[in-house]
Amino acid sequence: MSALRLLWVPVLLCLTHAWLCHGVCVEVDSDTEAVMGKGFKLACISCKMRGEVPAFATVDWWFMAKGESEFVHIYSYANMSGYIVDDRFDDRLAWNGSKKTNDVQDGSIFILNVTFNDTGTYRCFFDRTLVFPKYKYRTDATKFININVVGKATRGMASIFSEIIMYVSLIVLQLWLLVEMVYCYRTIAAAEKIPRASVSKKSLKPKA
Ligand SMILES: *[C@@H]1O[C@H](CO)[C@@H](O)[C@H](O)[C@H]1NC(C)=O
Ligand SMILES: *[C@@H]1O[C@H](CO)[C@@H](O)[C@H](O)[C@H]1NC(C)=O
Ligand SMILES: *[C@@H]1O[C@H](CO)[C@@H](O)[C@H](O)[C@H]1NC(C)=O
Repeated sequence: MSALRLLWVPVLLCLTHAWLCHGVCVEVDSDTEAVMGKGFKLACISCKMRGEVPAFATVDWWFMAKGESEFVHIYSYANMSGYIVDDRFDDRLAWNGSKKTNDVQDGSIFILNVTFNDTGTYRCFFDRTLVFPKYKYRTDATKFININVVGKATRGMASIFSEIIMYVSLIVLQLWLLVEMVYCYRTIAAAEKIPRASVSKKSLKPKA
């Protein structure tokens, strides 16, 4: 009985803490400030509307440098391999997205050695085909990311402060959850110790 009940703990944790469990897709926005000479991850995540439906996707990246007025195709990812299609990014782009699958949901790329010329707008384009038992359904998704290249990392006090608050509240919430779980478990365990026959008016009274 109690072993069976314990089995629910990971399930509950999964339900309440979805990000702990493998395979959950969350669309996170990309950072927008890159530092000269450092690497930078251009994040682009497009979750499937129906996570359980098998699918395959290709990802393309486009770039419009600051001061220019047209997007230029810079990177293409299909069949588990990526190609750089713009001289300016030769040997400077690496795939940072979903690995070992054609069912790509994370289409992020990584710029090695950022230069000031990388300032501008990036466009990420997902071309996805959902495979249903009797038909296929094609969808696409586009995201724009504005990148500003700076000489040195800048970090406002506000951002540092909010990160501290985030960690503190995460810890507090975790502890609270733990206390709740222990309390809950003990209440149930205690209730089960009382034999069925003795559940009468007497036992319903609170213990003195
Ligand atoms: C992204 O790619 C860069 C360069 O290949 C690599 O150093 C980095 O670890 C990768 N990050 C992730 C999360 O895959
Ligand atoms: C990064 O780029 C700068 C100039 O663009 C160059 O001087 C430097 O050698 C490069 N570093 C690496 C590791 O490629
Ligand atoms: C940046 O762009 C300018 C003008 O197109 C070019 O002359 C320069 O070499 C570029 N710098 C790098 C590091 O690519």
